[in-house]
Amino acid sequence: MTHLGVNIDHIATLRQARMGVEPDPVYAAQIAEQNGADQITVHLREDRRHIQLRDVKLLREVVQTRLNLEMAPTEEMIAIAKSLQPDTVTLVPEKREELTTEGGLDLSNLQSQMAAIRDAGIELSVFIEPEPDQVKLAGRFGADAVEIHTGRYANLHRRDEIDAELRRLEKAGKMIRSGGMRAVAGHGLNYHNITALAALGIYVEFNIGHSIISRAVFSGLAEAVSTMKRLIGG
Ligand code: PXP
Repeated sequence: MTHLGVNIDHIATLRQARMGVEPDPVYAAQIAEQNGADQITVHLREDRRHIQLRDVKLLREVVQTRLNLEMAPTEEMIAIAKSLQPDTVTLVPEKREELTTEGGLDLSNLQSQMAAIRDAGIELSVFIEPEPDQVKLAGRFGADAVEIHTGRYANLHRRDEIDAELRRLEKAGKMIRSGGMRAVAGHGLNYHNITALAALGIYVEFNIGHSIISRAVFSGLAEAVSTMKRLIGG
């Protein structure tokens, strides 16, 4: 069975636009779980631009599937992970000026940070490009899972380039599996590009956020407008 991790950061982005209380990502997590999500994924960024510490604390209490905390490999974040004990920590690169996570981690200097997560009894995943050297380092440094950054795949338009990138993702996924790790993929996946990737039958988990939340806006907009119309007596 392939698992779906639903990334709810964008719900928090909308809330932070008004610095208010709605929409609440905790409620979003419950709806996602009730509709088949196998995991809730959130990225607690250093600048707290969307998900807040309060969200992760509450999610730790209410999530009934699995909580996957994406975070930079910093001392502050490792301390938070140790205290909150998410089911999985996914180490990701983080730059303040980026709009979203650009590229994967270079694991070469992250052995001690990776060990700190595992020593805390938390499942460890690392977010990397589909590069054989990085997959090898993930295995050598004790990762339980590897999440492959699918951003390049998602941004391609030409059929031949998409096919070549799919082969690269297939190769990386097979390497992850033969290293005894879980093969995970995410970033930029949507209702179109997921099909060919899922059909490889290699990745056992996908973490998807932007396209699911974008679709939710439109699948809910008709009801939202008609309810307001009724309330104003129109
Ligand atoms: N996986 C990781 C490690 C990410 O950093 C992100 C983006 O926060 C995602 C998955 C989800 O990407 P998207 O929002 O493009 O689906």
